[in-house]
Amino acid sequence: MDIKTQIEQLRTELHRCNYQYYVLNQPEISDYEFDQKLRLLQDLEQQHPEQYDPNSPTQRVGSDLNHEFQQVVHKRPMLSLANTYNKEEVREWYERVTDGLQGASFQVCCEMKFDGLSISLHYEQGRLVRAVTRGDGVQGDDVTENIKTIRTIPLVLPTESNYPTEFEIRGEVLMPWESFEALNREREAAEEPLFANPRNAASGTLKSKNSAVVAQRKLDAYLYYLLGEDIPGESHYENLQIAKTWGFKVAPQMKLVSTLQEIYDYIDYWDTERKNLPVATDGIVLKVNSLAQQRSLGMTAKSPRWAIAYKFMAERQSTILREVTFQVGRTGAITPVANMDPVQLSGTIVRRATLNNEDFIRNLDLHIGDHVFVEKGGEIIPKIVDVDLDARDENLGPRVEFISRCPECGTPLVRYEGEAAHYCPNETSCPPQLKGRIEHFISRKAMNIDSLGPETIAEYFRRGFVKDPADLYEIRRDQISGARGQKDKSASKILQGIQESTKVPFERVLYALGIRFVGEIAAKSLARNFKSVDNLAKASLEDLLQVNGIGQVIAQSVQTWFQNPQNQWFVERLRSYGVQMELSEDSLSQHTDRLAGQSIVISGVFAHHSRDEYKALIEQHGGKNVGSISAKTSFVLAGENMGPAKLEKAQKLGIRIVTEDEFLGMIEG
Ligand code: IVH
Repeated sequence: MDIKTQIEQLRTELHRCNYQYYVLNQPEISDYEFDQKLRLLQDLEQQHPEQYDPNSPTQRVGSDLNHEFQQVVHKRPMLSLANTYNKEEVREWYERVTDGLQGASFQVCCEMKFDGLSISLHYEQGRLVRAVTRGDGVQGDDVTENIKTIRTIPLVLPTESNYPTEFEIRGEVLMPWESFEALNREREAAEEPLFANPRNAASGTLKSKNSAVVAQRKLDAYLYYLLGEDIPGESHYENLQIAKTWGFKVAPQMKLVSTLQEIYDYIDYWDTERKNLPVATDGIVLKVNSLAQQRSLGMTAKSPRWAIAYKFMAERQSTILREVTFQVGRTGAITPVANMDPVQLSGTIVRRATLNNEDFIRNLDLHIGDHVFVEKGGEIIPKIVDVDLDARDENLGPRVEFISRCPECGTPLVRYEGEAAHYCPNETSCPPQLKGRIEHFISRKAMNIDSLGPETIAEYFRRGFVKDPADLYEIRRDQISGARGQKDKSASKILQGIQESTKVPFERVLYALGIRFVGEIAAKSLARNFKSVDNLAKASLEDLLQVNGIGQVIAQSVQTWFQNPQNQWFVERLRSYGVQMELSEDSLSQHTDRLAGQSIVISGVFAHHSRDEYKALIEQHGGKNVGSISAKTSFVLAGENMGPAKLEKAQKLGIRIVTEDEFLGMIEG
């Protein structure tokens, strides 16, 4: 047998084994045998690079190479579903469909609503060619390399199955509860921030620039929508059953029904049964089954008329409160945390829940030993919603009192006027705040030092050589490189990233300083008005209040910040390392107010600049970039393939559509 045939046979065999193991849960060979074959294939591919195949089973392990995501315009926009929260609204939808179909009989396909992130997979000639996230529905990120690491997504379809030459299949990428909990346990042990829920974890993972990380994180996917010119079936259900035979993982809970009562039964059944599913769900999706009927019902601007989502009510459980502890966040905000007897809630065991703030605790008249009700809302970090006063008995402990000093550094807490939260005001030496300040400093919208992450920062902090952001510029290579050559490479990258940040323009430096209440937009206005840190530091309260968008709270906060000698010293140190402390000549000359007062929506793809560049241009000329079209929108800056929903809305509201060239003309004056 020649090498080519041997490699091809191995690939086909491994694709099949993969399907049997991950999709069907019925492995045909042992893990050991699988690994042996995979290793053999890896060796052969290495010896014969001319046989490279981007869809080979060996590609599932991901790669350490960083990659940026390309923005891709969806071939067909990815719409969302209208939500309902009760059976009454489901009935109304059912009646609208009945009317829309003029009394013709119809079937409804009931399915689970998976709580992950939607993905669009494109296959050509039976091979996965592209995977795109939903993004804004019009365009999303090309995450093909990351998607390839998900074992339940076929890379190559078995040749014997009769798939169309081109099709798209959509579904949901999920992190199963089990992987989610294991991941958070690891992160907790490493003192890394926890993911709030499996959806965030899945989304954070899928957007990771390192596909080797994605490969480790054990994502899964369920597919629920087949689209294309030559798709085989005449109904949604049939199509998915066929897609199943091509090797796709389709949710087994799908059910066809013909009456409203059957829909209700499905809802009732899965409202409780879903707790036993391996992945998070947040509702039920109802779809008119026949594709012809779907077409005749059509779409509204945002969502199809032939489908609707029914969202489950948050689940609530009762348990006993044992202790209240207090956490200090990055901004110094104190969060009271309830520690309770473990209780099962929507698939996870819950021991801790947030108690919001002092007023909340006082209003509940909370005591240790109380029976409390815990709920999971949209976020998986649960919260206490009520106390069962009737269940109090002689075992009731003391009343819960809020603390008066910071549990991390002992500083007396403060509560700002009009705010519910308590803060530790010791911004300059309270450990979690220091770490938070450094993380903020390096973040993308601030100094954008992406060679560093929260884990590395936490490590440097622990080892004691980075206590504030200015220390970053003093890091020596020997402090961060290990004995092994491979680590030196990342040390160089880190040092280079830090060095490059000295070119970041002043307005972002100002944001990076982390002055309370000075967000990205306030930082920009302040930078433009005062032009340098020295002018800003000298500004009186009146001067500050003159600036568009700067009110009493921000102005006061800026003044207080600059009056603190430690902050003055911090600024001086940054300046001495070359960090930009004034607007450059360039950016000064580029600013105009040609778009002052205008709210501008960007849509579509552009030829001359990227979306981000257009956003920057709008701001540079005094305009505001907003996300969605409303009556207040001044105009839509539209590129190729503007989303149909946006177009329809703009037309309905009579909002002007401006082309790329027109726009460039406008700002040139
Ligand atoms: S169908 C045009 N089916 O819910 C219909 N969506 O708000 C397209 N989702 O973005 C969606 N489970 O991420 C469909 N069984 C299911 C679903 C589902 C979860 C998500 C999907 C979509 C959102 C709709």
